[in-house]
Amino acid sequence: MGRWITLTVNGFRRTIEVKDNEILLDVLRDKLKVKSVKAACWRGECGLCTILLNGKLVKSCLVLAVEVDGSDILTVEGLAKNGELAPIQRAFIEHGALQCGFCTPAFVIASYKLLQENPSPSEDEIKESLSGILCRCGTYYEIIEAIKDASKYYQVKREI
Ligand code: FES
Ligand code: FES
Repeated sequence: MGRWITLTVNGFRRTIEVKDNEILLDVLRDKLKVKSVKAACWRGECGLCTILLNGKLVKSCLVLAVEVDGSDILTVEGLAKNGELAPIQRAFIEHGALQCGFCTPAFVIASYKLLQENPSPSEDEIKESLSGILCRCGTYYEIIEAIKDASKYYQVKREI
C-alpha cells in the first residue's frame, strides 16, 4: 500500500502514489518521467542524480519520496524560459563541456545553484561546489571554463 504525495516539479504540481521505501530518484525518473536525473550508483557516490530540492542541492537517490511531500524540485528541464536555454546551459554547449552527456544535467543544475549564490566564483570555489559529481569522460576543464563564462551573465544580472 502506498501514500499520496504532492510535489512541485519544475513549476508543475504533481500528485502521485509512492511506497514507503521508494527513493525520490526512482519516483522522478519512473513515475514523473524526469529523465535528466540520472541513476548510476544508487548510493550517493556519483552525484549524477543531483537535483535542487527546496533550493538545496541533494542526491535524489538518498532521499525517500515520502519525506519530501509538499516540496519544490528543480531539474534542468525547468531551467529554460520561454523556449530559451539558461545562460549556464548555453555556456556548456559553447564550451563543449560534455562528451557522452550522462553527467551533464547534474553538473548544470549544480553550476546553476553555485552561480545563483556566488556569481563570481574562484576556480577553487567552482571545483569545491562540483566535487560531489563524477564525469567519467573527464570534461572537468571544459565544465569549469563554461561556468567561468556563464558567471559573466550572472554578475551583470546582479548589477542590474
Ligand atoms: S545515483 Fe545518486 S549519487 Fe549516484
Ligand atoms: S560527459 Fe560523459 S560522464 Fe561526463
